Amino acid sequence: MSLAWRLLARPIISRLDSERSHDLALGALSKFDNSNYGKSVLSRMFQSPDLPIHALGRLFHHPLGLAAGMDKGARALSAWPALGFSWIEYGGITRFPQDGNPKPRMFRANSEKALVNSMGFNNPGASSVRDSLISRKSLGNWPNVPVAANIGRSKKVDNEQAPADYSQTLDTLWNHADMFVLNVSSPNTPGLRDLQQEDLLENVLSECTKIRDKYSSDKPILLKLSPDNDDELISEMADASIKFGLDGIVATNTTISRPEPKNTQSRIAFSQSGGVSGRPLHKRSVEVISNIYEHTNGKITIVGVGGIDSSESAWSSIQSGASLLQLYSGLVFNGPRVTSSIVRGLKSRVKEYGFSGVSEAVGYGHR
Ligand SMILES: Cc1cc2nc3c(=O)[nH]c(=O)nc-3n(C[C@H](O)[C@H](O)[C@H](O)COP(=O)(O)O)c2cc1C
Repeated sequence: MSLAWRLLARPIISRLDSERSHDLALGALSKFDNSNYGKSVLSRMFQSPDLPIHALGRLFHHPLGLAAGMDKGARALSAWPALGFSWIEYGGITRFPQDGNPKPRMFRANSEKALVNSMGFNNPGASSVRDSLISRKSLGNWPNVPVAANIGRSKKVDNEQAPADYSQTLDTLWNHADMFVLNVSSPNTPGLRDLQQEDLLENVLSECTKIRDKYSSDKPILLKLSPDNDDELISEMADASIKFGLDGIVATNTTISRPEPKNTQSRIAFSQSGGVSGRPLHKRSVEVISNIYEHTNGKITIVGVGGIDSSESAWSSIQSGASLLQLYSGLVFNGPRVTSSIVRGLKSRVKEYGFSGVSEAVGYGHR
């Protein structure tokens, strides 16, 4: 196999039983980041076909992007499109630099194709990420696809100060992403999910939309939800998003619920604290997408994420109401060809159904 495969895919696929393997793979990918030759090699191997969709005021080559958490510090930002992704979300970024929770904090359950993580927003902090993005841009190394920034609450800040914490990070990064995702749904920062309750959420949304007003900009702001919320809270959060002029909802983050383990490795993984991602999450993610789509009559853009690892799972998220998609665990378990294979499969289905484009399939399951 090629050098690219040995550097990237093998660490990701066969050795990602720990955070170190993730770091190795990301380190390898970041070597390609500032090499046009390297990126063109990757691109030849992993490029996805076009399946264009207009969403959030932008044109995406196809719906599938990289989910938050994979490239927290935006180290390999320009290399991801060469792996076939049509958009990238970096982060989660917090206002203050943080180490995250003690290691080990990432576990695999291979039989279920699931990960359990309790990372806790380890990241270099908003100012440091901004500086590296400024230098990336000055070197002409900015990706030619939409870039989203994922924003979380700093651990040392309590929920009363959360609105200022989020809005300051948003302010710091405003000129360094095309859109922003407010993450109030990670299970790994104590108290964070309480921000999904009405009053606290409205304070966060109000402060963050003021930043958009300050820049007189129409850059989209999205809200990322937990799959563990009941349907009523999910509807309330969708209503609050519309009330504050947000542009979209990302459904969903990881879950604190646990599937039945199939073997000892999975039992060990599922006994760790943190959030489960991957295949077991897909069913609930699709339910949440469906609920939001129905509740809002398709009026707010939905990004579907959770257990997408095949064209079947991607198609069901689209039919439930997602215009855009993301994945993380699917890349870990299936390797870098997963992106192009999903997009190819979606393209075939669009043709099979006789749709003129993928946007016609969005929410089709409700019609
Ligand atoms: C190790 C790891 C770290 C993550 N970090 C973040 C994060 O910082 N912010 C966030 O919003 N989501 C984070 N996520 C959640 C993913 O973005 C995604 O919502 C979740 O993994 C479900 O998608 P998947 O099943 O394709 O992995 C993280 C997930 C994993 C596995």
